[in-house]
Amino acid sequence: MEPPSAPPRGGHVPWQELLLAVSLLTFWNPPTTAELTVESVPPNAAEGKDVLLRVHRLPGDLVGLSWFRGASIAPSRQILSYVVDTQVTIPGPAHSGRETIYPNGSLLFQRVTLNDTGNYTLQIVRRDVEVEEVTGQLRVFPPAQTTALGLQILVSLGFCAK
Ligand SMILES: *[C@@H]1O[C@H](CO)[C@@H](O)[C@H](O)[C@H]1NC(C)=O
Ligand SMILES: *[C@@H]1O[C@H](CO)[C@@H](O)[C@H](O)[C@H]1NC(C)=O
Ligand SMILES: *[C@@H]1O[C@H](CO)[C@@H](O)[C@H](O)[C@H]1NC(C)=O
Repeated sequence: MEPPSAPPRGGHVPWQELLLAVSLLTFWNPPTTAELTVESVPPNAAEGKDVLLRVHRLPGDLVGLSWFRGASIAPSRQILSYVVDTQVTIPGPAHSGRETIYPNGSLLFQRVTLNDTGNYTLQIVRRDVEVEEVTGQLRVFPPAQTTALGLQILVSLGFCAK
């Protein structure tokens, strides 16, 4: 894009430029909830390995964040919370001792077990008290099994979890 040009003489702004500015503004301001995403690294983990649930496009104006087991928020399934101002990490009832929360929102699982397979939900609280949630999936496979068998186990675990 060209650098912004000097304002037109006489304060006259061509309407095409206004329209362009409006459409660019619309393009650059998608709903913030659509921006926040969670990615499992690696996408499919072997049992015993470390997995990171990596958070992308975390807003900068945060008061705190919390990770929960499952696809929704429940106090009994809280794993870890992080308070931004005090940099304090608070473990919840679902903390197994193998999870670590980072200030960038990512959640590290050390030595994952088959039981760690499932959905995990991140809740963030922003300075304007707006609350957002995003859910990601963790898939753990037995190390020595074929992918097909791993998938079967995953599916049965998924049904048992509810
Ligand atoms: C968040 O921090 C962890 C630990 O420092 C790092 O491994 C991870 O890549 C970071 N995530 C992002 C999205 O930068
Ligand atoms: C998974 O959870 C079940 C029930 O809580 C437990 O009996 C089993 O030992 C766990 N397995 C692993 C690998 O942690
Ligand atoms: C995770 O959520 C997805 C989408 O809602 C669902 O299809 C899947 O069965 C869930 N997995 C587990 C292990 O609960």
